[in-house]
Amino acid sequence: MHHFTYRDGEMFAEGVPLSRIAREVGTPVYVYSAATLRRHFRVFDEAFAGTDHLVCYAMKANSNQAILRLLADMGAGMDIVSGGELQRAKAAGVAGEKIVFSGVGKTDAEMRAALDYGILSFNVESVAELHRLSEVAEAMGRRAPVALRINPDVDAKTHEKISTGKAVDKFGIPWLEARAAYAEAARLPGIEVKGVAMHIGSQITDLAPFEQAFTLMADLIRLLRADGHDIRHADLGGGLGVPYHGDTDMPPHPDDYAAMVKRLLGSLGVKLIMEPGRMIAGNAGVLLGRVLFVKETGSKTFVITDVGMNDLIRPTLYEAFHHILPVREPAVDAPRKVVDVVGPVCETGDYIARDRDLPVMQRGDLFAVMTAGAYGAVQSCTYNTRALVPEVLVDGERFAVIRPRLEARDIIALERLAPWQVKDEMA
Ligand code: LLP
Repeated sequence: MHHFTYRDGEMFAEGVPLSRIAREVGTPVYVYSAATLRRHFRVFDEAFAGTDHLVCYAMKANSNQAILRLLADMGAGMDIVSGGELQRAKAAGVAGEKIVFSGVGKTDAEMRAALDYGILSFNVESVAELHRLSEVAEAMGRRAPVALRINPDVDAKTHEKISTGKAVDKFGIPWLEARAAYAEAARLPGIEVKGVAMHIGSQITDLAPFEQAFTLMADLIRLLRADGHDIRHADLGGGLGVPYHGDTDMPPHPDDYAAMVKRLLGSLGVKLIMEPGRMIAGNAGVLLGRVLFVKETGSKTFVITDVGMNDLIRPTLYEAFHHILPVREPAVDAPRKVVDVVGPVCETGDYIARDRDLPVMQRGDLFAVMTAGAYGAVQSCTYNTRALVPEVLVDGERFAVIRPRLEARDIIALERLAPWQVKDEMA
């Protein structure tokens, strides 16, 4: 469910025609719908109504301040994975007690900053990290609140680059070592055991892997309690997918996900923490681009656009599928053609879609790359010294630039010559 729809023959984001944003801000540009973000957060949050829970939005999916503020205003906590994301959460006004800190490689400085801010939980991913965190906390005269992230060795049946819960993935503490790790945690002076955490992967469209993982989690919580640990929260991670295709990849409804969670964990009296990212932001954004040229080569037709892999890396990095829709609504009987939609970057991997059957597009046409609100702008870069893609938030009839385009001159201004390269102008 999203708010990018055709109206009067052209695509709108809520009450704003995309063509207007293209005219005023230029392309490429990410466009987000506030109503869609709010709806997704509400649907997910309400699915857990009546249970002690906290939805910690995984800001890695889209960490723009305006997006964080919108979600924080609705009561969202945040899942962070770096000191930088901690700064973003603080800047957006998120209280420490609503922040969980995931990730396999936290530095001392990041641990200190998070302790200072009084976060809810460190999701610790190794015994080595546990020891270091204890030392850092002790030196500050503190005890770090901790959940151990357990790797349940479950196959989430998703793309190999976004699977995190198999034994071969770098994440978490192996399932069989969990009890020993908790015993170690209980001995450490700078650690206060609070909960258990898991996150098995992303873009998961089937409840079964979650069910497998959470069954193990419930067993583990019982075992740990029997071992004498005071387990107060269960962090279930994120992972619910979004319909990129819209047919073959329909994710479970949050209500069904929540019902399963309550069935497996409801009787344990733990606070539930969820870390959804993609299902909040994915469908709430499109990447708006323009066709530069159409090139026929005999074997292929290339639609060459101003959207590069530096703006959206997902198709080439994860073989991801994103629908491409012309901004001007095509007639039902509009001619179609199988084309490659590519960008201007000097790499063969620079494409948005390959062998895609699309309404015929021409130079100057605007198009929207759909479902680009999660892991789009956050993974953008300036490769080929292309301007950093801007972001726009639409809310009803209003829109605002929430990240301006970072132009080549701004990028170059960040760089220096080494002192010995500077020519003495006076000589
Ligand atoms: N919690 C943890 C510990 C995570 O590692 C992740 C995502 C999430 C929560 C949020 O998962 P979600 O609800 O968004 O599935 N760049 C990739 C996705 C990487 C996901 C990494 N971890 C992509 O574009 O598909």
